[in-house]
Amino acid sequence: MTTVAPSPHARDLSDAPDWWRQAVVYQVYPRSFADTNGDGLGDIPGITSRVAYLAELGVDAVWLSPFYPSALADGGYDVADYRDVDPRLGTLADMDELIAQLHAHGIRVVVDIVPNHTSDKHAWFQEALAAGRGSAARERYIFREGTGPDGSEPPTDWVSVFGGSAWERVSDGQWYFHNFDVSQPDLNWANPEVRADFLTTLRFWSDRGVDGFRVDVAHMLTKDLSEPLPSRAELDAMPIDGNHPLIDRDDVQEVYAEWRAVFDEYDPPRTAVAEAWVHPSRVPLYASAASLGQSFNFDLLEADFDAGQFRRIVADNLALAAESGSSTTWVLSNHDVVRHATRYGLPDAERGADGRPTLKHGNEWLLSGGRTPALDAERGERRARAAALFLLGLPGSAYLYQGEELGLHEVADIPDAERQDPTFFRSPGVDLGRDGCRVPLPWTASDTAFGFGTGGAHLSQPEWFARYAVDAEDGVPGSTLELYRRALALRHELQTAEELAWTDGSSDDVVGFERPGGWVVVTNFGAEPVALPAGEVLVSSRLLEGDELPAETTVWLRRA
Ligand code: GLC
Ligand code: CA
Repeated sequence: MTTVAPSPHARDLSDAPDWWRQAVVYQVYPRSFADTNGDGLGDIPGITSRVAYLAELGVDAVWLSPFYPSALADGGYDVADYRDVDPRLGTLADMDELIAQLHAHGIRVVVDIVPNHTSDKHAWFQEALAAGRGSAARERYIFREGTGPDGSEPPTDWVSVFGGSAWERVSDGQWYFHNFDVSQPDLNWANPEVRADFLTTLRFWSDRGVDGFRVDVAHMLTKDLSEPLPSRAELDAMPIDGNHPLIDRDDVQEVYAEWRAVFDEYDPPRTAVAEAWVHPSRVPLYASAASLGQSFNFDLLEADFDAGQFRRIVADNLALAAESGSSTTWVLSNHDVVRHATRYGLPDAERGADGRPTLKHGNEWLLSGGRTPALDAERGERRARAAALFLLGLPGSAYLYQGEELGLHEVADIPDAERQDPTFFRSPGVDLGRDGCRVPLPWTASDTAFGFGTGGAHLSQPEWFARYAVDAEDGVPGSTLELYRRALALRHELQTAEELAWTDGSSDDVVGFERPGGWVVVTNFGAEPVALPAGEVLVSSRLLEGDELPAETTVWLRRA
């Protein structure tokens, strides 16, 4: 049993089953957070060594991206064993220690669960390969015969999310289905053994003290693969209305009803948040208390820094939350997208054929090695700070991605030889992938690997990281780090009911709202200053001068 001294920042974790509703959740990407043994890979003891930093930042919970044994073909989202720790990242004892330390500092722990697919290194998949066609072991995955005279053509022309065919042939001639990388075979969720095993995993981590789960691609688990299988064109033409063969099927909710029963075995009940890329009208299904309880909304990841878009997104998602009874979630960055300080310094998001902004925003800039279109880094940071302070004032929970509290930018010029993301390899030349937001954090401006570790970093950090190092911003008035610290501390004081009333904007570029207790949040999205609303200034994303709210700035006020 680990004993830990109480922390000066500790908050009481004993009560409040609803802790998650308005929590600030900080996403740690373990391989890129802090390295304690000098092998260039971040590790669990590295996170433990930085718990004081997280407590001082003021976050309520930490979400750990996968740390399980993995070939790291997809940054750990290819899990070889759901109930262990990758030996390169540490041990189960290290995890116990991390959980104990976080709890001692009043911080909850959320772990990532990846149920759609395993790694091809998982014992089950190895068994399936060895056992051959028709075996029970193959029934845990999705194996089919090929087409063409000798079965050498894939069962369908479907493409994987990461590019290329969604089918891979094994040595005896059968094919298996993989929505993502070839190293990520999809599980067969119609198989009771698969379902039971995940319940065991949920209990395994809940018993170790984990408070909640982030559920990877929660909308893809169940499938209807009855013959004849549709072609890619037919598949693409099908409505995604609960009956689509692959995406967001109604019957996935049966899985989550079973999970809910497990979560509710614990006190307080374990929580979950769905990573579900579904039509907004379907979000309440995942977010309801009978299902996972909360779902990400990724609308702000896709939006421009634009008053009209932000206002609409907030209104829509508060309405959806009211429908499900859950709280909503706000996200500007995560490990899958170009960092928002960079997105906001580029021309507005590219639009897809349907007029919606595309998630690949910034890819063109990445492909040019960061040369075109020109990045206005300063403007990007200014807007990023304003957007973050806007988001932190909203009702619901806020998910932060490691490094955004430093104002960190995307890294564009990673040498091809260092790239790791399967999207880079599977879409040759079309998509540069997600390595640029996964470069190890800068802790100090002048040490080896900027204090990440003594043995370098698994993705090279550029020179300019020095400017964003924790020790370069710590205690510096006006730094992004100090802004986040101040905002999180204030949020704790001010946070009350999940309500908001819009206040009249003085122009179309201004969005303002008031929370119960006279907490007013106003953002000027425009390029011209506007009059500062009345009230006592609590914090602002940019230095205020006189009675003006500058361009691209958010202010929190207490109404007089
Ligand atoms: C999710 C993860 C992403 C991963 C994919 C496949 O979208 O966020 O990083 O590549 O699932 O597991
Ligand atoms: Ca290490």
